[in-house]
Amino acid sequence: MSVNIANPEGKLGILLPGLGAVATTVIAGVHAVNKGISKPIGSTTQMGTIRLGKRTENRSPLIKDFVPLYDLKNVVFGGWDLFEDNVYEAAVHAGVIDKTTLDQLKSELEQIKPMKAVFDKNYVKKLEGSYIKQADTKMQLAEALIQDIRDFKAKNSCERLAMVWCGSTEIYLEESDVHQTIEKFEEGLRNNDPNIAPSMIYAYAAIKEGVPYANGAPNLSADIPALVKLAKDNNVPICGKDFKTGQTLMKTIIAPGMKTRSLGIAGWFSTNILGNRDGEVLDDPDNFKTKEVSKLGVLEQILEPEKNPDLYKDLYHKVRINYYPPHGDNKEGWDNIDIFGWMGYKMQIKVDFLCRDSILAAPLVLDLALFLDLAARSNMSGVQEWLSFYFKSPQAKTKNLMSMHDIFKQEMKLKNTLRYLKGEELITHLGLDYED
Ligand SMILES: NC(=O)c1ccc[n+]([C@@H]2O[C@H](COP(=O)([O-])OP(=O)(O)OC[C@H]3O[C@@H](n4cnc5c(N)ncnc54)[C@H](O)[C@@H]3O)[C@@H](O)[C@H]2O)c1
Repeated sequence: MSVNIANPEGKLGILLPGLGAVATTVIAGVHAVNKGISKPIGSTTQMGTIRLGKRTENRSPLIKDFVPLYDLKNVVFGGWDLFEDNVYEAAVHAGVIDKTTLDQLKSELEQIKPMKAVFDKNYVKKLEGSYIKQADTKMQLAEALIQDIRDFKAKNSCERLAMVWCGSTEIYLEESDVHQTIEKFEEGLRNNDPNIAPSMIYAYAAIKEGVPYANGAPNLSADIPALVKLAKDNNVPICGKDFKTGQTLMKTIIAPGMKTRSLGIAGWFSTNILGNRDGEVLDDPDNFKTKEVSKLGVLEQILEPEKNPDLYKDLYHKVRINYYPPHGDNKEGWDNIDIFGWMGYKMQIKVDFLCRDSILAAPLVLDLALFLDLAARSNMSGVQEWLSFYFKSPQAKTKNLMSMHDIFKQEMKLKNTLRYLKGEELITHLGLDYED
């Protein structure tokens, strides 16, 4: 039996707090696709296919033809930033897409101007901007964001909205008392509790307004009991945290392969050099700590050293990020992996991934917005584990559930969820039911 999914009517507004490198790259890319200049490469919703039924049936439609998603022609973008640059100017500044291509999209991009940010330097020490909302309390700031959301929706005649946090990584915060219930959280908003970071105020505003919310950065944002509960109560789907791109993407591709062959790993040293604004923000130890926690959790969950002590008990895992301006957005991620095989013989794998951070992240923003909206139209609420596929630090439904990091298991979960929504048989890859 399939789930009742409402049709994608009218326009979908994608709201992005933080109009920096990633956000401007996704916006420019969608316009380029709509103008026929480019193809949506890297986007599972646009280019991915899904196998249905038995292998002999030869049914593998495009995902976008299988589940009802908004067409890219019906998507509009908006967002907030503490710099007043319009999206064209911000994209030129980010330097991800070449200027000749950006100039072909100039008229569309320069129409998108940021709304004033809810920002506090105490949470992102390296940024200094002036395009910021002023209010006495965090609750008033949340109300101002809610007004922005309503104004955007009306002005752009949107039927539906989705929000994806593309703002900078905030300093490391641990879950505390104010995060436990919505009553305490709202009290904290009124009292300017320092444990409520700006990204939480955006998440609160979105969920209050019934807007699905995804968090592309590693800071807590909606990953606190108060907001998870609010999302459930308000019937809003949410997910996070931290887009899985670059080095962690590679890690979650390689590590499951090693484990599947019962090969041991003695050490995994990862270092990155990058020179964009994100790299500058992460150069601050408090902001890096948030990222480090997100990047370190991955191997532990995939390799399960407690269940495989001979292979992974002594694994030494280290992650470094170094701000190196000459590389700009073109990050270089080095991995040195010390592995061992039969009779303990040592081997090494070296990966040097010359990647483009925002090029890898942009399609994830698009997919998350489209899939979260699909979830909302399918009446799914709370944490969407099937979207773990997109994250370094996937939020699990409950705290005692372990997040899944293995990209192949994540893919299966995502595709089986789509099959479930459409009433198609789930695929187990068992294969015993084929005739010899
Ligand atoms: N690019 C990737 O591969 C990747 C992967 C995982 C996570 N991320 C995360 O995605 C986020 C965006 O990355 P980016 O490369 O675009 O960074 P960026 O520095 O280019 O853009 C971030 C933008 O957010 C703005 N901002 C910061 N705080 C804000 C606030 N409170 N309200 C509104 N705007 C705010 C900044 O002014 C900036 O323009 C970062 O947190 C980054 O860690 C990126």
